[in-house]
Amino acid sequence: MIKPLKKAVLPVAGLGTRFLPATKAMPKEMLPVVDKPLIQYAIDEARAAGIEEFCLVTGRGKDSLIDYFDIAYELQATLKERGKISALEALAPSSMEPGSFVAVRQQEPLGLGHAIWCARSFIGEDPFAILLPDDIVKSEKSCVAQLVEAYNQTGGNVVAVTEVPREQTNRYGILDVGVDDGKLVEVKGLVEKPKPEDAPSNLSIIGRYVLTADVMKHLSKLERGAGNEVQLTDAMAKTIGHVPFHGLRYEGTRYDCGDKAGFLEAQIAFSIERPDLGDAVKEFLKKYTA
Ligand code: G1P
Repeated sequence: MIKPLKKAVLPVAGLGTRFLPATKAMPKEMLPVVDKPLIQYAIDEARAAGIEEFCLVTGRGKDSLIDYFDIAYELQATLKERGKISALEALAPSSMEPGSFVAVRQQEPLGLGHAIWCARSFIGEDPFAILLPDDIVKSEKSCVAQLVEAYNQTGGNVVAVTEVPREQTNRYGILDVGVDDGKLVEVKGLVEKPKPEDAPSNLSIIGRYVLTADVMKHLSKLERGAGNEVQLTDAMAKTIGHVPFHGLRYEGTRYDCGDKAGFLEAQIAFSIERPDLGDAVKEFLKKYTA
C-alpha cells in the first residue's frame, strides 16, 4: 500500500551569504517576492499538495521564521479594530494548525543531507516532501502536487527535474537517465554537481523532492560527498534499485531565488500578473529598457 504523503521538510539553515548585507539580521527565506516571503511560497505550494505537517530545519539567528508562523495577536487585534479586512486576510496563510509545525536546529552547516537527517524524528517511517525555499515554482498546479501524483502512481521517490545548459551541471544534482517517456524519467543514477564533462545528462534536480523514508538509513551514515558535505543526492542514489525512482519534468517555471538575477526575475514574473501592480510594472519595464 502506498502511504499518503502528509509531511514536508523545509531546510532553512543556510547563511544567505549571497544576499548580504540584507541577510545579516534576517533569514534569506524571509525576503519577499512582491509582498510574500520566500518561505510562504513553499508552504502554500506544499499545502496545495495536501501536506499538513511541516518541519523547518533552521539554524542560529533564524528564529524569526518560527515567529512568522505564530499568531500575531496584537497585530491581528489592531487590524480587526480598524476594520482592515484585506490586511487580516493577507495574514491567514501564515497561521499554522497547532501541533502541525515543528522546527529543529541544524547546529552545523554540514550539507543538505545532514539537514534532512536532523529531521529524522519528524519523518519517522513516513514518506515526505522536501522543499528548498530558494526555488519558487510558478505553475498552474503546485509542483509538489505534481510530484505527489507521480508518487501515487509509482510508490517511490520522485524528484522535480529540468534541463540545464551543460556548463551548469556543476551547480545541481544530475540524473543518469533510464527509460524516458518525455515527462516521467526513470533514474538509473544520480551525481551531485558533476563537471560538465563528467555529467551523465543535463537533467538537473530542482529543490522539490518526494521521498520514502528509505533514504534515512543511508543519510544516518553521515558520509561526506561533494564539497565535503553530507549530500542528499548520494543517499538518494543508494536507494536506486530498492525503491522505484523517477524524475518528473514538472509543468511550471522555476525561479532560483538564491541567485540575485533569479530573485529579480521572480519579482517581475509575480508582480506583472497582479491586477494591482501589472500595469505599473509594464510601464517601468518600458521605461528602463527603452
Ligand atoms: C541542492 C542539491 C542539488 C540540487 C539543488 C537544487 O544544492 O544538493 O542536488 O540540484 O539543491 O536547487 P544547493 O543549491 O543547496 O547547492
